[in-house]
Order: sequence, then C-alpha cells, then structure tokens
Amino acid sequence: MSEPDSSLTVVRDVASLRRRVKVWHGEQRTVALVPTMGALHAGHMALVKRAKALADAVVVSIFVNPTQFGPNEDLDAYPRRDAEDWALLNAAGVDLIFMPDASVMYPDGFQTAVQVPAVSQGLCGTHRPGHFEGVATVVTKLLLQGLPDLALFGEKDFQQLAVIKRLVIDLDIPVDVLSVPTVRERDGLALSSRNAYLSEDERAIAPKFYATLSAAAAAIANGADIKACCAQAERAVLAAGFSSVDYIEVRVADSLLPLKVLGSEARILGAATLGQTRLIDNVKIPAQQAGG
Ligand code: PAF
Repeated sequence: MSEPDSSLTVVRDVASLRRRVKVWHGEQRTVALVPTMGALHAGHMALVKRAKALADAVVVSIFVNPTQFGPNEDLDAYPRRDAEDWALLNAAGVDLIFMPDASVMYPDGFQTAVQVPAVSQGLCGTHRPGHFEGVATVVTKLLLQGLPDLALFGEKDFQQLAVIKRLVIDLDIPVDVLSVPTVRERDGLALSSRNAYLSEDERAIAPKFYATLSAAAAAIANGADIKACCAQAERAVLAAGFSSVDYIEVRVADSLLPLKVLGSEARILGAATLGQTRLIDNVKIPAQQAGG
C-alpha cells in the first residue's frame, strides 16, 4: 500500500511516533491523540475537529485491534479504507497518522493485559467477552506510546469511554480523556463504521433504535418506572424488525453502576442486532428528573 500523496506523515513504529511528539513537546506544543480503527466517518472527524481546537498538534492512530474482536466477530470483514482515511485526515489538517502493524502492537511474546473489571461488567461486557480487555490493553499502549496531553473518544461507545477513564486514573497515565457527543444521521442513527453492513431495508429500520431509547429516556425523566420502560423499549425494538436485543438498561453515567439513587445522572444504554449488524447506542437522562 502506498503512502498518501500529501504533507501528512504516516509513521508505523513507536520510536518515530515518540520522536515527533518529543519535538512538539520540546516546542511547548500540546498534543492530542484520536485513537481509531479507521473507516473514518463524521463521528471520527468530530473528534479530530475538537482535538484541533484544543491542542497544537493532532495525531490520529489507525489500528484495527484484533484483541477486541471475539472469535465469531467481524475482524476480517471490518472495513479498511486507508486511502480515503488519509485524504480525510489530510483535509482536516491532522499532523500525523500512527498506523502500526499488529506485530508492532503485539510483538512475539506479548502477554500483558489491562483489565477494568467492574466497569467492563454487564452491558456489552456480557455479550462480548474479552472485548473491553482488548480495548483497555490497546488504548493503554497507544497512550503510553504517544504520551499525548489529551486523548479523545466518542460517547457512542459509552462503556468503552468509562473503561478508558477508569484505567487512566488507576494507572496514573498523564493524559486528559475527553469525550465528544455522538454524531448522528439526520434520522437519528448514530454514525458507526459498521453501518456499512446494513442493507437498504435494515438502514430504514435502524433509526428506530435511537428513537426508542430516546422515548424511554424521556418517559423515565418524567418519572415512569425504569424497569417497565426498558422492557417496553425492548419490545418496541423487536417489533421494529430487530432480530434480538442484547440489553436495554439504565445506569449511572460515570460509574456505569446500576441506577439505585433517584436523581443521580443516568444514561439509558442499549445493544441490538439488525440482520447481521449489532448496533449500540445510549441517551442521557437528565439528572434532576430521573425517577422510577
Ligand atoms: O473505538 C474504537 O475505534 C476502538 O475501540 C479504539 C478506541 C480505537 C481501540 O481500538
């Protein structure tokens, strides 16, 4: 694969990444990292835009991390669009792409794993065993490889965000973790690289997931019973044409613990399968109104 025809530099090894970041830090410039698995869409570009607003130099990593995919998941099918990604990042004014091979991230003899057990429990953690260990390990590596001042993640992967915030605190990694709200299509569907798997018919059904979560969040905010709302939302998603619902649950936003105390900030989170595509999404429930 040839390198992009642009001023944007692509580095593939840790030493080159560190050299660049060291130069920027030597010039008192702040550095932001946006970790991605490529197949970039407007959601990723919102992270890049925010990164550019907050830092002097922006690094985007592109690495389809094998350890966060289960044996029956879509690692091989996961979209890879390097040329398009590079063009988008170049146009957005990104300073550096870090694009390591699997052998750079997981060299022979690699055996360390980062686990964030409580936050990884339940929700997607139940349905994707090992997923958050893979995410936590690769994100820890990326942060320690680049040592950026800030790192940005999307709120669509809300449990992932909570896992990363926790590990950064627990491991004293000197980086500010910032989140950016989910970017949606006009009909509400959360942008995801996996939306490319949806057929035309499925694409028409897909926004009903967000609409259903939003309706449940509004009802809960108005005092409706949380359990009943989640059960009703599951029925609505299945009636809309989804084949299965992994979960629809309300959790405390920061800790992702089950919501016990009325009035604490709450989030409704869900995962459901449409055809071959698993969609996840989440919606905030305003703290002062949460009830049920
Ligand atoms: O959200 C993603 O794209 C991935 O999980 C991440 C954070 C880049 C780790 O591989």
